Amino acid sequence: MSAKPRKILVTSALPYANGSIHLGHLVEYIQTDIWSRFQRMSGNECHYVCADDTHGTPIMLRAEQEGITPEALIERVHNEHLTDFKDFDIAFDNYYSTNSNENRELSQTIYKQLKANGLIDIRTIEQLYDPQKEMFLPDRFVKGTCPKCKAEDQYGDSCEVCGATYSPTELINPYSAVSGATPIMKESEHHFFKLGKCEKFLKQWLLESGDKAPLQAEATNKVSEWFESGLKDWDISRDAPYFGFEIPDAPGKYFYVWLDAPIGYIASFKNLCDKKGLDFDSYWKPDSNAEVYHFIGKDILYFHALFWPATLKFSGYRTPTKVCVHGFLTVNGQKMSKSRGTFIMARTYLNHLRPDYLRYYFAAKLSDRIEDIDLNMDDFVARVNSNLVGKYINIASRSAGFIKKRYDNKLSSELDAAGQTMLKTIQAKQTDIASLYEARQFSEAMREIMALADIANEYVDETKPWLLAKEEGQEENLHRICTSIVNAFRLLTIYLKPVLPPLTRQVEDFLNIMPLTWADAESFLLDHEIKPYKHMITRIEQKQIDALLAESAETLKAQQPSPAHYDEQQQNEKDMQMIDSIDDTIPFDDFAKVDLRIARIVKADHVEGADKLLQLTLDIGEEKTRNVFAGIKSAYAPEDLEGKLTVMVANLAPRKMRFGISEGMVLAAGPGGKALWILEPHEGAQPGMKVK
Ligand code: MSP
Ligand code: ZN
Repeated sequence: MSAKPRKILVTSALPYANGSIHLGHLVEYIQTDIWSRFQRMSGNECHYVCADDTHGTPIMLRAEQEGITPEALIERVHNEHLTDFKDFDIAFDNYYSTNSNENRELSQTIYKQLKANGLIDIRTIEQLYDPQKEMFLPDRFVKGTCPKCKAEDQYGDSCEVCGATYSPTELINPYSAVSGATPIMKESEHHFFKLGKCEKFLKQWLLESGDKAPLQAEATNKVSEWFESGLKDWDISRDAPYFGFEIPDAPGKYFYVWLDAPIGYIASFKNLCDKKGLDFDSYWKPDSNAEVYHFIGKDILYFHALFWPATLKFSGYRTPTKVCVHGFLTVNGQKMSKSRGTFIMARTYLNHLRPDYLRYYFAAKLSDRIEDIDLNMDDFVARVNSNLVGKYINIASRSAGFIKKRYDNKLSSELDAAGQTMLKTIQAKQTDIASLYEARQFSEAMREIMALADIANEYVDETKPWLLAKEEGQEENLHRICTSIVNAFRLLTIYLKPVLPPLTRQVEDFLNIMPLTWADAESFLLDHEIKPYKHMITRIEQKQIDALLAESAETLKAQQPSPAHYDEQQQNEKDMQMIDSIDDTIPFDDFAKVDLRIARIVKADHVEGADKLLQLTLDIGEEKTRNVFAGIKSAYAPEDLEGKLTVMVANLAPRKMRFGISEGMVLAAGPGGKALWILEPHEGAQPGMKVK
């Protein structure tokens, strides 16, 4: 272990103050909490701060709709969030609010500094305005008929029916979702942050830092794309009425919520420093000797990888050590869905299951990659029951009874030889497991730990304490063996402690010891009195899952969709393109197995009885044409395809379908529905040519 404790400041993204915490959020807070707990246990000075993200139009309107002040709304939600986090054992050192004096002062001084550095521009722009409500309308608050598919009542940024995205001015018959009035175009002065001027610094910071890279490779790739398409200036102001902080010397102008939100990280920490007497500057000034880690979801990468470091750099602060990006939670393989009851709120979960289960499951799935993680309910039950209960807790229950009955709850002062060997094997992994935690390879860490639990269980199987208990003259031997087993359980508990705080507290109580630290794995617990064994955790039963999903579906039915309620994820998706994480690397040989050919669509037909498919007749230069059924009917009319070239997978095993045999597949991009585009080669390519 490093001799000198590191100074680390850790943050999670600040949840919006107009919604409840759900299991998707918890991927992030649990991941960050595991990492910070590991740091603290290892003897580092680690502060984990967060806050509610309280400003913006949705919060203002939501409060109005409820007939309360925004302050009252954010206070209510603050309390709700605090209890949810506490009950999931997320150990924040400070959970604050962006609507604080610290944040106001910091936002204003940072803004002034950026302005002094020539990075603020004031320009007049035109925007949709609600003349009745007398406010400018964010895209999401304009509704109308989709310009593409003509579906009515669609939001101003995208159509939920066909998936098209557009600007609100393109809507047919637009109306304000706030008052119903027809919006007009109106001019207003806006303040812009000149991000383009920060490009050189950002490239240096993000792309040239080698080993010290602040982002994962996948995120760095995404940021490189953004550089390629050019960094646009960022509109950081909003007109009154707006719930937020006023911009200095600009009456009626407010900071856009995303300007003051990340500053909320600093403000929350400042507040902690004032309460605890910590040295703020040693964390946030450019010559800081501390580390700053931000944990975020992939939807808010742009803000954290571009705006945020640029803001910090040019206002006299240090930049983050790392921005750790995670993927999104899916449930049973699909995006969380209100109608399927898989949009599960933290509270609903807690009404049925204890937090350790989910914390363990997420840990078993999380890595340092940005890929989405799936909560598969069957897998959840199976893994928790077989690993957490079957392998780990079982070790304690297999020896504790004897210690109580035969030895008055006392551990022996010596170990048996085989037990000692087994324990040394477990201890030998301490450094590896520490490195895995440090690198956020939690799933690998869980695998290693469960492999060690297997070793401990094998030891129990081989020594058979239950038989020894019946033999004469084995009293001392049995005592040592049971002591070895308890020690194996203690070591595994140390390794699992960052993941399982509530369970660990029970174990520490049972073992009658002080809170375990990482270094405790270097020693054994001998000649010590433990407490009588009590059952600590039970298996999950299917009926608990059923009840959870049922209550979840019930809770959501009660919620009316309205722009003031619209979910945060949509807000961020709109603000920023989502990244689909890149799949695992494959060797070139695997790719070469796929025979891709240029194909001419000779004929395209509707398929009777199929509402998604078109039947394509494809010429790929063979004697006979190919027959392919393609799920593209939502996006194409047959007549638009005939004669066109595309790309097909020519060596896919033929598939028998209800309508006939499909002899390959054409390639298309996009999420589906109307938002689907088949590939088309540049002019000159001929049917049959290999694509490689
Ligand atoms: N308020 C902004 C963050 C400001 S940070 C200065 C925000 N809030 S949020 O409530 O929408 O999301 C908070 C965090 O939870 C984000 O990092 C987001 O990516 C994450 N998640 C929200 N839904 C999620 C899933 N379904 N799955 C995984 N993470 C998710 O963004
Ligand atoms: Zn549409």
